[in-house]
Amino acid sequence: MPTTPSVLAKRLLLGSDPVRRAIYIVGLMPAVWTFYLGLMDQLGADPQNVLERTLGLWALRFLILTLAITPLRRLGGPSLIRYRRTLGLLAFYYALMHLSVYLVLDKDFDLAAIWADIVKRPYITVGMLAFAILVPLAVTSNNASIRRLGGAAWARLHKLVYVAIAAAALHFIMLVKVWAVEPLIYAAIVATLLGYRLGAYLMKPQKRRAANPASSVRPAN
Ligand code: HEM
Repeated sequence: MPTTPSVLAKRLLLGSDPVRRAIYIVGLMPAVWTFYLGLMDQLGADPQNVLERTLGLWALRFLILTLAITPLRRLGGPSLIRYRRTLGLLAFYYALMHLSVYLVLDKDFDLAAIWADIVKRPYITVGMLAFAILVPLAVTSNNASIRRLGGAAWARLHKLVYVAIAAAALHFIMLVKVWAVEPLIYAAIVATLLGYRLGAYLMKPQKRRAANPASSVRPAN
């Protein structure tokens, strides 16, 4: 059957796997719903801020879900590795919408004001860092990039997601003027996920030595 332009567009936007498509559709619901409430004037006294915050929060949530996939599998849960890229892209789309609301609705695309924010407000600097890291990860999140970069280099590049999620959690903590519980809960989840990765990394050489005891024995002179 010939591929029509609309089928091609759907595949490019949502992929051909029905589960991935469902994840995209469900994953984008909070954005659609919040934009809808905004259009219906149902977002309270400061709709632009509610929209901005909701999109930022979902970006962080999807980053957390992306990083939770590997520990979930290692701890005996289902293997959802094939959906990790989808969740990572959803995190990027939310971060992009969050940034767009800031640039367009909050700052009216006033480049001088945006630059002043980046250099004077540390939470914006850190948020920008998180977003800047997500861009190359999103751009290379396809099989062609894995082939072009080589698996090892691609995997090294994508380890930057740990820096991005740490910056995102820090951004959330920094933007509240008083200590609040919610950003700290998210930071604790992020710290647990990063701690798990660090633990797994530190355990690796030991595991290798245990699997191949000869490799840890120094040759006798
Ligand atoms: C990966 C990238 C980012 C993530 C995950 C993220 C996440 C968040 C989160 C969780 C919040 C708080 C939501 C809440 O209070 O419920 C927030 C608020 C905010 N973020 Fe981000 N953010 C990111 C990047 C950025 C960037 C690049 C900018 C702008 C340059 C930005 C500007 C803001 C602003 C202005 C607020 C609202 C502050 C206020 O209400 O006064 N964020 N973000």
